[in-house]
Amino acid sequence: MDPEDTEQLAAEVRGKTVSGWDLLQIATGTGLAAYVVWAGILMPGFRRVPLKLQVPYVPASAKQLENVMLLLEGRSGKLVDLGSGDGRIVLEAYRQGFRPSVGYELNPWLLRLSSYRAWKAGCYGKVSYRREDLWKVDLSDCANVTVFLAPSVLQLLERKLLTELPEEARVVAGRYPLPNWTPTSTAGDGPNQAWAYDLKAVRRARQDKPERSSV
Ligand SMILES: C[S@@+](CC[C@H](N)C(=O)[O-])C[C@H]1O[C@@H](n2cnc3c(N)ncnc32)[C@H](O)[C@@H]1O
Repeated sequence: MDPEDTEQLAAEVRGKTVSGWDLLQIATGTGLAAYVVWAGILMPGFRRVPLKLQVPYVPASAKQLENVMLLLEGRSGKLVDLGSGDGRIVLEAYRQGFRPSVGYELNPWLLRLSSYRAWKAGCYGKVSYRREDLWKVDLSDCANVTVFLAPSVLQLLERKLLTELPEEARVVAGRYPLPNWTPTSTAGDGPNQAWAYDLKAVRRARQDKPERSSV
């Protein structure tokens, strides 16, 4: 291109003003794109879940997974991961002897990914990933529960766990501790930290000191 043409083009671009209509179109387009990513990829299957209970997918780090499993050492029986994401905790729990090893997840893409990962690991059909709302599943026969959810929903989760879990159950929370419970033990630090809670001890402590606030 001729240098004069380039200068003329640059001058034209400089002189061009962005109208209100242009801005509205940009904002609408950006909003729409963000919504499509949110509704279609990150949160499909969540239409019936109240907005304040919707927790997006963030996979546990390798170190976090290691810490969670460390706190389950020596235990056995049924393990459930509430909001199982790509299925990594369920798969590792199966490898370490937990039977059955079950994940509840609403995002169909993540359920497919979980099945693929299980198949690749030679565990297809041995672990189970179910498309169910974690707030609606019955936990009364779960000896081991793992959770990695947003802090905003953990107080409500405490109530569900307290109501449903058997006395011998252990809950292991990754990255965010349960707000009102005292852990039996903890492993790791920073974003990889995990906390273990034994239901028997939690219930005993609550009898001595009832929960202070509600959501
Ligand atoms: C922070 S991710 C944790 C994923 C996995 N547990 C891990 O540690 O790698 C939370 C997951 O919970 C799922 N989830 C959120 N609310 C749910 C609900 N009501 N029922 C089932 N799954 C849910 C999300 O889709 C997301 O995959």
